[in-house]
Amino acid sequence: MKRIKAAVVGAGIYGSHHINAYLNNDKTELVGVCDLDPKKLDMVKKEYSINTYTDLEEMIKKEKPDIISIATPDPYHFGPAKTAIENNIDVLVEKPLATSRKECEELIKLAEAHNVKVGVDFHKRWDPASINLKLELEKEDTGKIVRGYVSMDDIIDVPVNWLPWSRNSSPAYFLGVHCYDLIRYLIEDEVTEVYAVGSKSVLSGMGIDTYDNVQAILKFSKGSTWTVENSWILPDKFPKSNDGRMFIVTEKKYLRSDSQNRGVEFFSDTKTQTPNSYFITYRNNKAFGFGIDPINDFTDSIISGEKFMANAVDGLEATKIADAVHESIITGKPVKLER
Ligand SMILES: NC(=O)c1ccc[n+]([C@@H]2O[C@H](COP(=O)([O-])OP(=O)(O)OC[C@H]3O[C@@H](n4cnc5c(N)ncnc54)[C@H](O)[C@@H]3O)[C@@H](O)[C@H]2O)c1
Repeated sequence: MKRIKAAVVGAGIYGSHHINAYLNNDKTELVGVCDLDPKKLDMVKKEYSINTYTDLEEMIKKEKPDIISIATPDPYHFGPAKTAIENNIDVLVEKPLATSRKECEELIKLAEAHNVKVGVDFHKRWDPASINLKLELEKEDTGKIVRGYVSMDDIIDVPVNWLPWSRNSSPAYFLGVHCYDLIRYLIEDEVTEVYAVGSKSVLSGMGIDTYDNVQAILKFSKGSTWTVENSWILPDKFPKSNDGRMFIVTEKKYLRSDSQNRGVEFFSDTKTQTPNSYFITYRNNKAFGFGIDPINDFTDSIISGEKFMANAVDGLEATKIADAVHESIITGKPVKLER
């Protein structure tokens, strides 16, 4: 069988997982990696013998990829995604699809015009815990969903040292979109109204002008209400780079899920670590887990022509909620979502 030619734009922390996934998938051939930073490309070249580019148009012209993964920083997905779509290439975009409703809508229009598939890497949909929650919610005896709570937080090292661009994103765009998307997916309902508050102090005091914490109340059309909390300032001593919880109250049940309680704990005199071994684990240089599954599923969806689990409209809806969260923080008022 002819392999699908794949390329990756953005060879940073998460782009490296896309690179690994395509290199280890029998159905794909990684034909190129593009990054604006030559140092990142040198690191890729050192590890793998792959053609690298600083110019996306040049990579497309020379390598003619069938699919492109876009793993550039949150605010810079739009440009490379637009270029790929205009060249009739299917794209898998890291979350968020883009950091404004307008950009998402433009990408959707372009994708329709060029008849290309756009996937968004909302990998929480692939988390075995989410799959279990969805199966339980779908049971007839669960009753109507009444209320939910979701948190997803990062240690402060993430915005301060991992992401040089964190000031151009926020806990809502980096973490919140995962939560907004997961709720939509689990309960198959749309947000009608958002009220949010946010605070800036610790990060802005370090010269990074973004929110430390964002708390949002989301009202859904079928009547359930949800609280979503996202912080970027957990202490670095927390034993994992992030933390997350989900509690759901239905008319008949109480469901709880906890990303911290994944069964592996390491203790030493100096450190405690609790890796989420279901997310991304490397063995013999091959990555596997629910952080990798969507990348392989996207290839499968291109081969089979079947729907990919998270598409551009899902990307748009999550960004619309994040935009409304920001608007509500700034105005101090609830924001209604029109569709
Ligand atoms: N870090 C994580 O844990 C994580 C997890 C899931 C998803 N993501 C998402 O993946 C995306 C990338 O995040 P990251 O953590 O890998 O960031 P990163 O800063 O480590 O990597 C981004 C890379 O993109 C490159 N770049 C920037 N603009 C570019 C452009 N126009 N063309 C080509 N390359 C460009 C940068 O030089 C950098 O190497 C983000 O949207 C993020 O939300 C990150």
